[in-house]
Amino acid sequence: MNIEANPTIKIEKIKNSKINNIDFDNLSFGQDMTDHMLVCTYKNGAWQQPQIVPYQNISLDPSSKIFHYGQSVFEGMKAYKDTNGQILLFRPIENQKRINISAKRLAMPELPESYFMEGLKALLKLDSDWIPTQDNTSLYIRPFIFASGNGFHASPADEYKFIIACSPSGAYFSGKVKVLIEQKYSRSANGGVGFAKAGGNYAGQFYPTQLAVEKGYQQVIWTDDHKHEYIEEAGAMNIFIRIGDTLITGPTSDRILDGITRKSIIDIAKDENIAVEVRKITVSELVEAAKNGSLKEMFGAGTAAVISPIAGFGYQDKDYDLPELENTYATRLKKRITDIQYNRAEDKFGWRVVVK
Ligand code: PLP
Ligand code: COI
Repeated sequence: MNIEANPTIKIEKIKNSKINNIDFDNLSFGQDMTDHMLVCTYKNGAWQQPQIVPYQNISLDPSSKIFHYGQSVFEGMKAYKDTNGQILLFRPIENQKRINISAKRLAMPELPESYFMEGLKALLKLDSDWIPTQDNTSLYIRPFIFASGNGFHASPADEYKFIIACSPSGAYFSGKVKVLIEQKYSRSANGGVGFAKAGGNYAGQFYPTQLAVEKGYQQVIWTDDHKHEYIEEAGAMNIFIRIGDTLITGPTSDRILDGITRKSIIDIAKDENIAVEVRKITVSELVEAAKNGSLKEMFGAGTAAVISPIAGFGYQDKDYDLPELENTYATRLKKRITDIQYNRAEDKFGWRVVVK
């Protein structure tokens, strides 16, 4: 093995790249992994030297606390390549801050900013040939921290791993999605972990989502756990609703993830002179707007899904279809945000970061 070291990150390169096995013209989402990954261990009360190694399996003791008590948090980011071959990230510092917000809530050690940012940049430079440039593709980046320390005592682990794995990816959803407004199950509750990107939040969603899929929907729209009265978010996206010409999204809370796409869309929409309201929206207001024709659009917003238009929603055994509009806010806002991300337009907000 060719071992290189720099002051902070130890790099062990792969002998034979797997890149020629990848069909970059037919990328799925998050299935193929790049040649390398970043691994950093927390033990004896400190994060150790980060290492970049060939992408590989990891070995864990069966009593590792991740398996039993679910201490696991993650992030979702993307890297893009512009026509000059520059590697670009979108607001990466927000992901770095958020993984620590999530880690703190799960009694896990926070990660220093430099380990996240420098580790990520070194990994991207090494695997830069894996960043796809075809339309609607990007390198999906998955930083995560989990409890690798062992023992059955139900208490926080004493060892953790921080890993960054990357996957050249195509679109998360193909086409519009039909959603079901959830009336029984809850994704999160006051005082819970809904605001964290904790692995368990997603596990808890799978069963209700399976039930929705059996009924012909692709996604669940979560409502508040108390009375299922307010629209909250989708499983992997924040939700926007256009009634008349006003774009509405719910306020973040300890039940809702503070999405980076969501806050960017709010800023872009205001810049486009679109009326934006950040306020609670009830299911009955949504149903009423669908009935009286003032409901124009609904879309989800998130890193993986970007902006994902919703075709219609189901509520109390009735389906409501959204109109087919010509010039949607979803299309306009998606163009603005992706033009910034891919360096096709000026970045007046200062969100783009070039990896050098
Ligand atoms: N809500 C949930 C539950 C998510 O998993 C995600 C995806 O990360 C989002 C919202 C959107 O967040 P972001 O735009 O930061 O990716
Ligand atoms: C993302 O949008 O990056 C996410 O983390 C959602 C994921 C569950 C696919």
